[in-house]
Formats: sequence, structure tokens, C-alpha cells
Amino acid sequence: MTWTPSSWRTRPAKHIPDDYPDPGALADVEGKLAEFPPLVFAGEVRRLKADLARVSRGEAFLLQGGDCAESFKEFSADNIRDTLRVMLQMAVVLTFAASKPVVKVGRLAGQFGKPRSSQTETIGDLTLPSYRGDNINGMDFTAAARAPDPQRLIQSYSQAASTLNLVRAFSKGGYADLANVHQWMLGFVDRSPLGAQYRETADKISDALAFMKACGVDSATVPQMAQVDVYTSHEALLLGFEEAMTRIDSTSGHWYDTSAHMLWIGHRTRQVDHAHVEFCRGVRNPIGMKCGPGLETDELLRILDVLNPDDEAGRITLIARFGAEGVADGLTPLARGVKRSGRNVVWSCDPMHGNTLKTASGFKTRPVDRVLSEVRTFIDVLNAEGCVPGGVHFEMTGQDVTECIGGAQAISEADLSSRYHTHCDPRLNGEQALELAFLIADKLLGLKAADTAGEQAAG
Ligand code: PEP
Ligand code: CO
Repeated sequence: MTWTPSSWRTRPAKHIPDDYPDPGALADVEGKLAEFPPLVFAGEVRRLKADLARVSRGEAFLLQGGDCAESFKEFSADNIRDTLRVMLQMAVVLTFAASKPVVKVGRLAGQFGKPRSSQTETIGDLTLPSYRGDNINGMDFTAAARAPDPQRLIQSYSQAASTLNLVRAFSKGGYADLANVHQWMLGFVDRSPLGAQYRETADKISDALAFMKACGVDSATVPQMAQVDVYTSHEALLLGFEEAMTRIDSTSGHWYDTSAHMLWIGHRTRQVDHAHVEFCRGVRNPIGMKCGPGLETDELLRILDVLNPDDEAGRITLIARFGAEGVADGLTPLARGVKRSGRNVVWSCDPMHGNTLKTASGFKTRPVDRVLSEVRTFIDVLNAEGCVPGGVHFEMTGQDVTECIGGAQAISEADLSSRYHTHCDPRLNGEQALELAFLIADKLLGLKAADTAGEQAAG
């Protein structure tokens, strides 16, 4: 069957709104977007794919994180900078522990649309369509706000473009220079026990940099030391938008979705014969896919055949999101089946989406200890199956929010209401995200030590 950027339109599609009041206006906006410049370039996308191929071989680690849903309201330079500095801090901790490069992929510059478990929301006697992300409708509980508005796609494009502009400036313009490792500390993390732990790592890095500088190596002589690659990603949910951003790359002659470097297929839209898999199979970007409860091994192998028929390395990242209790039973058969089939994938752990619960007072939250426990079990399962635990996928913000309970600051249920700002799911704050990085670092260090001991015993 031939693929075109619009062939998904012939397939059943879940979680794409079909109630735009004026479908003609939507088509006009999509036509306009198709004329707008690409947000990312095919060469960058190919570089990410090569980086992910390294992750699949265990030579690098994938760190993918950012907002659950970006919003028009929370859009500011400070927010973007704070998210990036948490990513940089986490990457430092991980690189230092694992002695491996960390591939940094933001859930940003386009992470707007949300699949919702319920199509409607009822408050009192009023039932309205659910909020579906700022690129579709508004959060206010009024009929006007909840009606899908195609102009929101133009605003999302423009916010994504400005966000990317800042990401490029921060990552290439000197801010990400390792020499700034102490300055990336966020005020509120600085005051926590993790701040001291981070400073210890940062001190060691500063010592190493001072030594290298004495040997004539610093960012003046090796400009790469002042720069990092930060890639962008979002869930490929709203396919009309993705179609409009899909272009032929003149160098290779292949189709690329230029809305982000990496796209992923959500837990609710991965049916093998449906629209989202159909769209993603034809673009050359790295594709992530959420793997959660209910996914059978046979089904997964069929999806992999469709998405990656040539078994290209770096093309597919499987993102396990079973929850702390379900991950051992859920992931083991999938890891075993993929390994037995000889297919090439990156395994990543989303310890967020299987660990959401609602408190008695009505807040959606996630206990940090369950998040950490899912990551630990994920690594153990993949090691036991002879697969590579390649990375993590998480929802966080650089802001000092109180959305997930626990962590070094021991945020309690009663604290949730104090700074609960998310538009969708509860996110780790900077300190909790750093805690996650230290946990993974410890686990990876333990594995490295076990490897070395094994080699010595064998030698
Ligand atoms: C998400 O990553 O924001 C999400 C909705 O996840 P999932 O598809 O795994 O539920
Ligand atoms: Co989410």
C-alpha cells in the first residue's frame, strides 16, 4: 500500500477531534501551515537517529523529558531555560556516572495535544467536551473555550518556533558550556540535600576541566565543549498538523515530519491498522512508541514490521509505561519477544504514566518512590533479558511545583495545593528530576562495577 502524508486519512483515527465547528477553516489553516518553514531540518533528524542507534547498542543513554502539555499561558523564556537547565544537570550526573554520552530530547516545542480518557467533562449539571491541549481547545470550562479552534494551530506553530529558537540559543550559544556546571543550579534545588550531592559532582567536573585547561584543552580550543545537542519531540497526535509539516528532504528525497526531531505514538493510538501508525510509518524521523498494559508481544512485533521494515537502528524507541507494580510482568515478555526476533530497538522507561493516582482531595499525583521503583525494575528486567536499558522518558518542569508527592523535600498530599500548576499530568519538579538522575546514575554505576568484576573474573 502506498504511503502519502495524507494516507492516514483513510484509516480509523482515535483522539483526533472531529467536531471543529467549521471544517473549511481547519483545512485553510492546514494549507497555510504547509507553506510555513520547517521547524527542524532533516540533517538534524538523521543525527538524532545515529545517536539513538548508539543508545540501542548501549554506547549512550537517552534522556527524554519535559512538560506533559505545554501551554500558551506558561510560555516564557524563564520556563524554557529552567527546563533546559534541569535536563543539563541530569545529563551531567548521568554522563559522569556512566561515562557515556547522554542524548537529550525535550518534550517541548510542540508538545500540546493530549489524548483524554474521557471525551467529556461534567461539572454540576453542565457537560462539555474535555480539554484536549492548547493546540485544540481552551481549558476554561465554557462551551466557547472547549470548542476546537483551528487558529490555535497557528499559535502552536509560532510558540514551537520561538521555543526552538531559545533552545538553539541556550544549547549552542555558550550557556550549555560545561564550565557553567555550577551555574545551572536552580535556587530551590541549591537549598536541598540533592544540591550538595550535585555540587560534589560539579566540583569533580570543574577539577577535570581545570586539569584539561592546563593541558591546553578548553572551549576556546575545542568549541564543541561549549555546545550540546538538544533535540525536540512530541506525541504525533494531531495528524492534520503533522501532515502539514511533512516535507520531502531535497538531499535524500525522503519524507520527514519537520515539526520535531522525534515523534512518538501514544498508548491509546498505537493500533497497527489505524491512522497514527500509518502516518508514522512513512516519515523518516525516529519514532517512539508507548508500550503499556494490554500490549501483546505478537502485536508489538507486527507494529515493528510496519514501522521499521528494514530494522534500521535508531528508528524505534519503545517506551515502557506499566507502573511500578506492573512493569516486571508487563515488560518481560515484550523484551524477550523483541530480543528473540532479533529486532533493533531502544528500550526506554516512562515511569510517569503508569503511576498516576487521585488523592482524596481530587488532585492527580504521582508518588516519587513509585516513579523511582519503576525505573529500578525496568533496568533489572532488561538486564535479566540481555537487553539494554537505554533511557528514560519523564514529565518534569524546572519550576518549583508541588505536583508529585515524596522526594527529598517530602512533598505531602496536603502540600499539593500550594503550587499545582500543570495543565494535564503531575510533573516532577527540578529537585525530584535530579533525584531520578542520581538514582539512575547509581544503578548504572552498579552495573559498570559488576561488569568490571565480571571481566576481571573472566580474565
Ligand atoms: C504522554 O506521554 O503524555 C501520554 C499521554 O502518555 P501515554 O500515551 O503513555 O498515556
Ligand atoms: Co502526561
